[in-house]
Amino acid sequence: MTHTPDFKVPDTEDFDSPHALFAKLRAHCPVAWSDDMGGFWAVTRHADAREVLENWEMFTTTVQNVVPRVATTQRRPPLHLDPPHNTPYRNAIQRHLTPSRLADWDARLKPMVAKFLDPWIETGGGDICKDFSFLLPIALLAEFFNLSPNKAEQIRKVGAEFNMALQRQDFDLLRIKSDALYDIAADLIADRHANPRDPETDPTASLLAVRVAGEPLADDLILGALRQFLLVGIIAPTTFIGSMAVHLARHPEHHAELTANPALVPDALEELLRLYTPYRGFARTAREDTEIGGCPVSKGDPVAIVFTSANRDAAVFEEPDSYRLDRTARDLLTFGRGPHMCPGAPLARVLLRETLLQLTQKTERLEQVGPLEMTNWPEYGPLSASFHAIPRP
Ligand code: HEM
Repeated sequence: MTHTPDFKVPDTEDFDSPHALFAKLRAHCPVAWSDDMGGFWAVTRHADAREVLENWEMFTTTVQNVVPRVATTQRRPPLHLDPPHNTPYRNAIQRHLTPSRLADWDARLKPMVAKFLDPWIETGGGDICKDFSFLLPIALLAEFFNLSPNKAEQIRKVGAEFNMALQRQDFDLLRIKSDALYDIAADLIADRHANPRDPETDPTASLLAVRVAGEPLADDLILGALRQFLLVGIIAPTTFIGSMAVHLARHPEHHAELTANPALVPDALEELLRLYTPYRGFARTAREDTEIGGCPVSKGDPVAIVFTSANRDAAVFEEPDSYRLDRTARDLLTFGRGPHMCPGAPLARVLLRETLLQLTQKTERLEQVGPLEMTNWPEYGPLSASFHAIPRP
């Protein structure tokens, strides 16, 4: 079914321009069609986004789950499966993120953040994405999945190349890099078969131990799940930490407030996660002709849930473009909603909170130098952002 385009995806963006475009769409055309990137509806208001996320009977993830569409060779649970088939994969991860496990991570993350942040500050700063925020989430995932340093380095390299191919929409290269990630996941599974680990402490062993009606999960789906876990937790923290640094550089008064009162860091993090939501292009496909917020949508249409926009919807967040720590409305969609809501969110929050804390305790201020290099759909935020870091005396 053809639709009349409501907006064009801009060829270039800066830190603020996506927010300006989404504000216009929310006001005038909240469910907007674009012919770009294969054609898709952008759902920009909070209420509509929630409705699509929660109504999985109508909006499936089994066809296309990001904009732009990436041709996939294999299904990657849990994101590529509708309920209830996604649940066992989520459970296998969530058992490692109980409150007591998170308390453990809290302690382990302090030295991990310092290991990457201290040299960055000592050398006066630099590109916070390349030199810090890309390294840290991979180090965390490497520990989470009990990977060898060699495997972690392989993922860091292939993950960076995969991300670059996605940014440039080079789909041939993307396929090659995706296959390389599958190979890494396959090696990990083979290793756990050869050297069994305790499912209580090893997420890959947990996936292998799952039984549904007495049967193990299918080999190819375990492989797909692992491949997804290995990448999905890397990209968003990378760009989001870049966005946090841009905000601190633009608002030295907010930086100073957090330095003086570190107890404000958890609230500040929630506000920054709202303002600079790193995902905007997770998608669903309509199973039938339907409507979203009164806009007719045809069977088979891709629908992008624009979290980055929904979190600045004035219907939910008063003065949505302002950083305010006194908000009572905290209905963030940063980590999604409904049956696919991010199972890694508690771990991501610990990682980001510790980063914001150390960044504002160890530096007096950040000064942005040079231009930002921005990511594009399906993410939002800088891929490269350089700063002078002024250490605290
Ligand atoms: C700033 C950091 C992160 C953000 C903003 C984020 C955001 C999201 C969002 C919005 C979704 C829902 C996608 C949808 O509904 O289509 C999602 C799903 C997912 N996330 Fe995260 N995520 C982050 C970090 C992580 C980490 C660290 C992990 C792993 C430990 C992780 C693992 C996953 C997985 C496996 C899914 C798929 C869940 C499912 O389909 O049931 N994420 N994430």
